[in-house]
Amino acid sequence: MEWELDRTSKKPIYKQIADYIENSIANGVFPSDKALPSERALAKELKVNRSTVVAAYDELQSVGLVQRIHGSGTMISKDIWGITKKRIPSWNRYIESGPFLPNLPITQRIRKEMEEQHLINFASGELSEDLFPRNQLNEITSSRSFVGRLGYDHPQGNTILRSTITKHVLDYRNIHTDPSCILITSGAQQALHLVVQCLLKPGDAVVIEDPSYHYNLPIFQSAGVKTYSLPVHHDGINLDELLLLHKKHRIKMIFLNPVFQNPTGTSLHSRNRKGLLELSSEQGIPIIEDDPYSLTSFQGQQVQSLKSDDINGTVLYISSLSKVVASGLRIGWIIGPKAVIERLADAKQQVDFGHASYSQWLANEFLDYGYFQTHIHELQKKLESRCDQLVTSLNNYVHDEVEFTIPHGGIHLWCKVKKDVDEMKLLENAIKRGVIYVPGSVMGSGNGYVRFTYARAREEEIKEGVRRFAEALTSLKK
Ligand SMILES: Cc1ncc(COP(=O)(O)O)c(C=O)c1O
Repeated sequence: MEWELDRTSKKPIYKQIADYIENSIANGVFPSDKALPSERALAKELKVNRSTVVAAYDELQSVGLVQRIHGSGTMISKDIWGITKKRIPSWNRYIESGPFLPNLPITQRIRKEMEEQHLINFASGELSEDLFPRNQLNEITSSRSFVGRLGYDHPQGNTILRSTITKHVLDYRNIHTDPSCILITSGAQQALHLVVQCLLKPGDAVVIEDPSYHYNLPIFQSAGVKTYSLPVHHDGINLDELLLLHKKHRIKMIFLNPVFQNPTGTSLHSRNRKGLLELSSEQGIPIIEDDPYSLTSFQGQQVQSLKSDDINGTVLYISSLSKVVASGLRIGWIIGPKAVIERLADAKQQVDFGHASYSQWLANEFLDYGYFQTHIHELQKKLESRCDQLVTSLNNYVHDEVEFTIPHGGIHLWCKVKKDVDEMKLLENAIKRGVIYVPGSVMGSGNGYVRFTYARAREEEIKEGVRRFAEALTSLKK
């Protein structure tokens, strides 16, 4: 809580608390459908006696702002319009009515837990601080002068960076393209959002993988797009199952993360790549290839993207620097036919007037001056070592209780808990013991899976994190 009591004020403490709660109700800090903080919790937070908080709530109850409901705590009264002195809008009604849906409550909860507590973090899908190339980025900023526009830049992104990405995707991903066919986006996430907003309409049917990257699920729902799930097997999706879905629902687009998939870590088998591209062009269904992970291959070998074989132009290719350089740079891109890119760039201009020039410059220097090459090799080795550490720890602590396939790249390990457990109870138990991960159902799968991200916890924390997870699992059986 950022607000603090003024212990030097003449205004009584209980009155200050009552005013603070009234203001927070008025400006929506306390949502109308949730209980206010308990007397005990608020007293602890503000370091006052519980009786002072009771007096504050009594005051608010006496003017009709709050109600004490036995068993539910202190709730905000149903209609407070005119009661609070502040003539402000009912923000909660606005919050609930926007067409852009919030994240799933469990996703919000996990994020909040990570902000507030020092947990061993297997939940955030990103690299840990020590895996970012901080020294190299500092060297760039301290030894080179910023070159670029300080005014609004081209809505498709800085032309120098687009040329550098053209070379980068040729060298590292065997993709032939041209700067005019690239749009720089705020990470892969914005690229996905623009595609859904600009190229689909409400009611359109799309295929997504099951399980899949959970942050894109509300994007589809907000746009009114219908999603049909395609199971991800140990070697990716099955083309017959895809065709069946198309026959049934007339699919408009296929969203795939074919290499080191989030969360399963699996990759589409090479024998299916050609068939998938043929299916896409024969049926006229575009593929959105979301590829943030292919450069994290532990063996360092180049993993072929679908886009590199896309002779018919049916693939829109999305990637970013988030999982291989730094997620905070927010540099992503989408590669596709010029007309599509121009349409998306026009939308991006409406959304944010184009990408920030400083981070584009920094990304360009990193990619263009040999830093990337050294960094990516080191990163692959370190990721492999963390993955090994996780696998060893799982084998040591929960060997008989879980099943998983060892990934060859990426940053996630997908783990099945063999026994039938209450997924939410397991998560609560784990949080209580100081470790957090993403429960499988958040990613669209059935009950009983856990996604461990091994890139985010420090290497020395991984063993302890798994030990705590094992304890949480054991406590469920008691
Ligand atoms: C499959 C996939 N797509 C897209 C993203 C978004 O990444 P960013 O916007 O940081 O590039 C993620 C992040 O976890 C991801 O796993």
